[in-house]
Amino acid sequence: MDKFVIEGGKRLKGDIYVSGAKNSVVALLPATLLLDVPCVIENVPDISDVEICLTILRELGASVEKLREGTYRISTLDVTSTEVPAELARKMRASYYFLGALLGRSHRAVAAMPGGCNLGERPIDQHLLAFEALGAETTLIKKIDNDGTAYIDAVELKAEHLYGSNISLNVVSVGATMNAILAAVKAEGITVIENCAREPHIVDLANFLNYMGAHISGAGTHKITIEGTPVLLGNDALEGSVEERIYSVVPDQIEAGTFMVAAAATRGDVLIHGVIPHHMKDIAERLQECGVTVEEVESADRQEVCIRVSVSENRRLHPTNIKTEPYPGFPTDMQPQMAALLCIVDGQSNISEQVWEDRFRYVAELRRMGAHINTTHDGAIIFGVPGLHGARVKACDLRAGAAMIIAGLAAEGTTEITDIYHIERGYSHIVDKLRGIGADMKWISE
Ligand code: EPU
Repeated sequence: MDKFVIEGGKRLKGDIYVSGAKNSVVALLPATLLLDVPCVIENVPDISDVEICLTILRELGASVEKLREGTYRISTLDVTSTEVPAELARKMRASYYFLGALLGRSHRAVAAMPGGCNLGERPIDQHLLAFEALGAETTLIKKIDNDGTAYIDAVELKAEHLYGSNISLNVVSVGATMNAILAAVKAEGITVIENCAREPHIVDLANFLNYMGAHISGAGTHKITIEGTPVLLGNDALEGSVEERIYSVVPDQIEAGTFMVAAAATRGDVLIHGVIPHHMKDIAERLQECGVTVEEVESADRQEVCIRVSVSENRRLHPTNIKTEPYPGFPTDMQPQMAALLCIVDGQSNISEQVWEDRFRYVAELRRMGAHINTTHDGAIIFGVPGLHGARVKACDLRAGAAMIIAGLAAEGTTEITDIYHIERGYSHIVDKLRGIGADMKWISE
């Protein structure tokens, strides 16, 4: 089993580069099924969730060509299958985007219930509500487990025709908003999705599809309107050009936030490149409340605005309170990383988790490193300690794994992190990137 070994206590210093967003690319890749021309996607992160998406595309019959690191040419013109291989669908949460994309393309889709991080109950009722509103018939394929309990194994969607419709989501859901867009983009007529999620990856999906010829407006607000378009040829192609459209994945807000918190926790001085500063506003504000300096600065070549995070070496940091909320609130996907930092500030911080029912499994791991944390039914109270010590811990899920890395970087001594396959799902070249700014971190294959 592979593990990360970190010798903590090193101040992170230097320049680090953010990759394309995991939670965007896992929707953009299925979205290529809706295109009537090939396309090129760049800034694709090198993570295992992308590998799974590309494998699913190939299994469905798409041609996927790696042009260079992080850049793929994808043609889905020859896809005929409408069934996502079950073992691949179960490996990741975002496999549910193949349901929306295949339904939009072929009016039929079958996929096993998605896997992904265990954060408590993860229903997909809002996705099904959206598909049904557009005219799909949904069938839940049930199986019986060893205890004799029935469970939903897979979903089948079928539609004679998809019609634009009003979809009012009962819960603000990233996945349901994305799936509603994917299914509606080629539906006949106008679709209005209300109570949408507003995350940067939703805007990115809409931008990508619009770039390829779709008519989606309002992404990034609570209400998205889609005028159905029967073919998506890319605007240049419509104008007679033979050039393929190249789309670049939006930078990863959560990866950038993870680097910001790692810089703060090690009393570092780090310049984060390839970030969109306004996506980072809430994270930056919480760090500033702790006494961390967060500034927008121009890169040396003046080509981009970066974020610099710095803390003077002996400065003690203050506690803060966090309540996770859908964007633009504090992201739940940054909650464990921020908790790792709050373990080593002076005083008591409170965390309220409003999105997932079970996102505190990492607390037991941080306690092994000397953290003092009490959990409540939907939150945690963190009593800051002067410092953490290295220990053998596991990555319980993707962001919990990121929290272990931050804690290990800040702790005195050696930290070993196991179950790192969770981290590989979402962080591209994390060891090389952190070593590049001074971390003493190794990837050990056993
Ligand atoms: N919900 C429902 N019904 C649904 C869908 C969601 O009740 O049909 C509830 C969920 O139980 C949850 C809330 O709505 O309480 C929000 O869930 P959402 O659908 O927004 O989450 P998701 O689409 O499954 C994505 C990210 C998660 C991230 C959440 C929230 C992907 C692949 N995953 O999940 O990312 O935590 O949005 O921002 O985009 C991660 O990257 O580590 C991760 C877990």
